[in-house]
Amino acid sequence: MAVRILIVACLAALFLGTCITVNGLPTEVTHAYCRIVWLLGLPCERVSMAILTQIKAMGSYKLVSVAAALIQANHTSAVGQIENVNITFAGTAMSMGCHVEGTSVSAFWFSLFDNGTNYCNLHNIIEGSGLTKAPGFIEYTNEWLCLGMGSSACK
Ligand SMILES: *[C@@H]1O[C@H](CO)[C@@H](O)[C@H](O)[C@H]1NC(C)=O
Ligand SMILES: *[C@@H]1O[C@H](CO)[C@@H](O)[C@H](O)[C@H]1NC(C)=O
Ligand SMILES: *[C@@H]1O[C@H](CO)[C@@H](O)[C@H](O)[C@H]1NC(C)=O
Repeated sequence: MAVRILIVACLAALFLGTCITVNGLPTEVTHAYCRIVWLLGLPCERVSMAILTQIKAMGSYKLVSVAAALIQANHTSAVGQIENVNITFAGTAMSMGCHVEGTSVSAFWFSLFDNGTNYCNLHNIIEGSGLTKAPGFIEYTNEWLCLGMGSSACK
């Protein structure tokens, strides 16, 4: 079980380039990680506005930067436990659609086994914003991209 989790974490970390390998073998896995894609049938301006409003309303998030294509925030999940959250926005070929990508990464190695903290950081934002009820809403992720989502209990 521990080995499986380590491999999953390492593959996930590869997306960020934080999984250091020597002779093809993982030697260091440092950060729990979650990446999610959301598709919505709404213009990106409306989606980013709703997400920004929601992040501001949640006391556990601190905005780092806000731009049309990228919102960055830090989330505090417990004393001394911080996750860096990025949310990017891109229009889709479908004229009214928005492709949103959320990434949450624990800032410290000891939060590798995070019980889905990084998944909940992202999911709670979209849930709270009401966008899960928007036309065409789809959330896409899996255990490979989002460590611990299977054992998460977001509140
Ligand atoms: C966000 O977290 C990073 C490290 O994880 C830190 O360097 C940065 O200062 C933090 N920004 C804010 C606004 O808290
Ligand atoms: C967020 O985006 C910035 C700028 O592209 C990047 O340096 C940082 O690593 C990203 N953080 C996460 C958690 O994806
Ligand atoms: C994860 O959940 C288990 C069982 O509820 C708990 O014992 C453990 O401390 C949690 N770990 C973290 C990092 O929150």
